[in-house]
Amino acid sequence: MRVLVLGSGAREHALVARLAGERDVGEIVCAPGNPGIARIARTVHADLAHLDPLVELADREQIDFTVVGPELPLSLGVADRFAADGRLLFGPTAAAARLESSKAFAKAFMARHGVPTARFHTSDSLDDALAVVRSGELGSPVVLKADGLAAGKGVVIADDRASAEAAVAAAMGERRFGAAGERLVIEECLSGPEVSFFVVSDGTRALPLGSAQDHKRVFDDDRGPNTGGMGAFAPSPIVDGALHARVMHEIVEPVVAGMAAEGHPFRGFLYVGLMLTANGPKVIEFNVRLGDPEAQVILPLVDEPLLPILIAAAAGDLRQSACRMGHDRFVGVVLASRGYPESSESGQAIAGLDDAERLPGVTVYQAGTARRDGQLVTAGGRVLTIVGRGAEFSEAIAHAYAGVQRISFDGMQYRRDIGRKALVNES
Ligand code: AMP
Ligand code: GLY
Repeated sequence: MRVLVLGSGAREHALVARLAGERDVGEIVCAPGNPGIARIARTVHADLAHLDPLVELADREQIDFTVVGPELPLSLGVADRFAADGRLLFGPTAAAARLESSKAFAKAFMARHGVPTARFHTSDSLDDALAVVRSGELGSPVVLKADGLAAGKGVVIADDRASAEAAVAAAMGERRFGAAGERLVIEECLSGPEVSFFVVSDGTRALPLGSAQDHKRVFDDDRGPNTGGMGAFAPSPIVDGALHARVMHEIVEPVVAGMAAEGHPFRGFLYVGLMLTANGPKVIEFNVRLGDPEAQVILPLVDEPLLPILIAAAAGDLRQSACRMGHDRFVGVVLASRGYPESSESGQAIAGLDDAERLPGVTVYQAGTARRDGQLVTAGGRVLTIVGRGAEFSEAIAHAYAGVQRISFDGMQYRRDIGRKALVNES
C-alpha cells in the first residue's frame, strides 16, 4: 500500500517512523516532510495551504491512503477534496474540523450535546464583549479566546476586569489575532490538572489511544509564554481506569454521536484537552489531529499495527473498541531555537544527533531542521523532540535527557523538568 503523510513536524516524523515499520506499508511519501523524515520516506515539496496540488500529488504518486498531520489542511477541506476525488484519507472534513477551527462552534456544539465544559458567552462585537466582561457573570479571572485558528496564541487569561477589557479591545478593536479574533469566546476560568486524551473515530465509534500531559509554557515550572509545546509524557498517571471510562462516557461518546447526528460524522484523530476540575473532567479544547509533541509519546503506546486502525476508521468501519497497549512510559523533550516562541533563529549547525540516536531507549524526531552543504542545521522554532522510553517514568526521563545531553546547537533551549509531574506516583 502506498501511503501519503501530510506535514513536516516531529509529529509527522513520529507518524512516518511508526508506519514505516508496519506490514502492509509499501512506499511512504511525505509532503513536505523534513530531513529526518527523508531518511525513512520519500519527501516531496508541498504547500499544505493549497489543496489542488495535493490531490494532483496523490494522483501522480498513485497513493492508496493519506494521513494528515496538521490542522490547517483539514480546516481548508483536504478530506472533502480527497473524498470527491475518490481517495481514502484519514482526517475529518472541514465541517467536522470546526471542533478545532472554530471555538465558538465547539462551545455551542458542547452546549447542544451536554458535554461538560466551562460556562461561556460568544461575542461578535466589541460592545457585547465589553458588556459581558463588565457584568462579571463569568467570574474572575476570565478567559478570552479568539474563535479561529491562532496557532496556540489566541487565548488570554485575564486576572481582573481591567486586563479583560484591555484584551477584548486588543482582539476586537486592534485585531491582534487578525480575522481569528473577530468573534470571541469568553469563558469561566477553570482550575485543575490538564491532561490530553486521544481517540481514533470512524464517525460513529471511538477507539482510545491513551492520554498524555503537555508542557505548554516555555520555561521550567510552567513559567513564561505559551508555546506549541515544550515536551510531553504518556500515559498520564492521573488518568486511571475510572477517569478513562468517565471521559469516554461523558465526553467522547456524546461528541462522536453529536457530530454524526448533526450530519458531520467525525473521522480522524480527536484530541480532547481536559481540565480535571473539582466537578469532574471538563473540555478546554478539541483538536482534530494528534498533538505535537504528544504524538511522539502517544504513538509508541499502541502495541499493534496502526495502519489497519486508521484505514478502518477512514472507511467508517472501525470494529475494534480497544487496542493493545504496551506498558512502557515515554517522555519527549523539545529542543527549541533561541527566541522561541516569539521569534526563532535558523541556520545553526546541529551536532551530536547520531550519538543521541545510538543511545538505548532514545529516539530523535526532527521538526525545524534543514540540510545545508551536507550539514544538518536549525530551521525553525521547535527543532527536535528527544523521546526517552522506560519501564518507569524515572527511566524514560533519564533516557530522554541523556539524548538531550549529546545534542548541541547555538541558542538551544529546552525545559529541564519535562516528565517531573509524572513522578509523584513513582517511589
Ligand atoms: P487552548 O488554546 O484552548 O488550549 O488554551 C490554551 C491554554 O489556556 C490551555 O492549555 C489552558 O492552560 C488555558 N485555558 C484555556 N481555557 C481555560 C479555562 N477555561 N480555564 C483555565 N485555563 C484555560
Ligand atoms: N501540543 C499542543 C498541540 O499540539 O496542540
